[in-house]
Amino acid sequence: MENTIEQIRENALTEIENASSADELKALSVKYVGRKGHITLFLRNISSLPEEHRPSAGKAANVTRQLVEARIKEMIQQIEDAEAISSGSIDVSLPGRLAKQGSLHPVSRINQQISDIFKRLGFDIAEGPEVETDYYNFEALNFPKNHPARDMQDTFFVSDDIVLRTHTSPLQIRIMEKERPPIRVIMPGRVYRCDSDLTHTPMFHQVEGLVVDKNIGFSDLKGVLTTLVHQIFDEEISLRFRPSFFPFTEPSAEVDILCVICRGKGCRVCSQTGWLEVLGSGMVHPAVFENVNYDTSQYSGFAFGMGVERIAMLKYGIDDLRKFFENDYRFLRQF
Ligand code: DAH
Repeated sequence: MENTIEQIRENALTEIENASSADELKALSVKYVGRKGHITLFLRNISSLPEEHRPSAGKAANVTRQLVEARIKEMIQQIEDAEAISSGSIDVSLPGRLAKQGSLHPVSRINQQISDIFKRLGFDIAEGPEVETDYYNFEALNFPKNHPARDMQDTFFVSDDIVLRTHTSPLQIRIMEKERPPIRVIMPGRVYRCDSDLTHTPMFHQVEGLVVDKNIGFSDLKGVLTTLVHQIFDEEISLRFRPSFFPFTEPSAEVDILCVICRGKGCRVCSQTGWLEVLGSGMVHPAVFENVNYDTSQYSGFAFGMGVERIAMLKYGIDDLRKFFENDYRFLRQF
């Protein structure tokens, strides 16, 4: 063999760099990697080398062939592009297509806003599992087995004992098992319920809140939730605390705001009541404290939970919950 593969490679690359037309490059392709090309012949002659040199020579030749082929292809493309530009078939003065810029999803925006409000109030933020045990989702929250309140939750069961969490409230238990009071925390996350229509989707977002300390009273609950609602809706909108029931709070209250659409006159959105429900809340039930071994003679607390999509719908005047999940750019870019 007259030439080493290194020499062949060097010559090939130099000739390729100096080529000035696609035809020249095609000729170089024949010269080096064609049927009788230098590299092809080198590969064919490897069998005449001493046996111990064959593997490394074969490898070097194959690498060289790939390199030469790739470089020729690249150069031909460059030359063809340049020809297309100079012949006018590519108009380089046309404005480019701008990449569309995304924006935050309304659910993310509300979540962020809620987090900011609570950070200013000195709350921590915690998260937890979406696949939960019956114990955390129900039992520890004072939903005994066969309690009718379990029916309100439209649970997705993974097995008899494992569920997709139906609310973020199980995080209250997880936090209290790990920490001692004082506790001030919010817990945002996805929740799941077997329900689907104009105003329900099988997955939605909640933010849970929990405050536990000495001397926490209903006035603290009212103060924090009033601040929250005023800041979310950017105005001192009227609130109403309406008696309600949740197994894990006593007393319990649902929080309504004056209808943002009709301002209390009554309309389709508020079902003619003049009020819109935005939150569930209450004082932590002593049975819940007992489940996490908190001394109920020392500590009291309040909790609350709200649906993030619902707040976003009211705040931005969105009438169909499904819009949140379709990822339509025209919808999303409005926020
Ligand atoms: N977990 C309740 C639900 O999903 C909402 C809720 C109500 C949370 C009252 C609370 C609370 O923390 O105190 O419907």
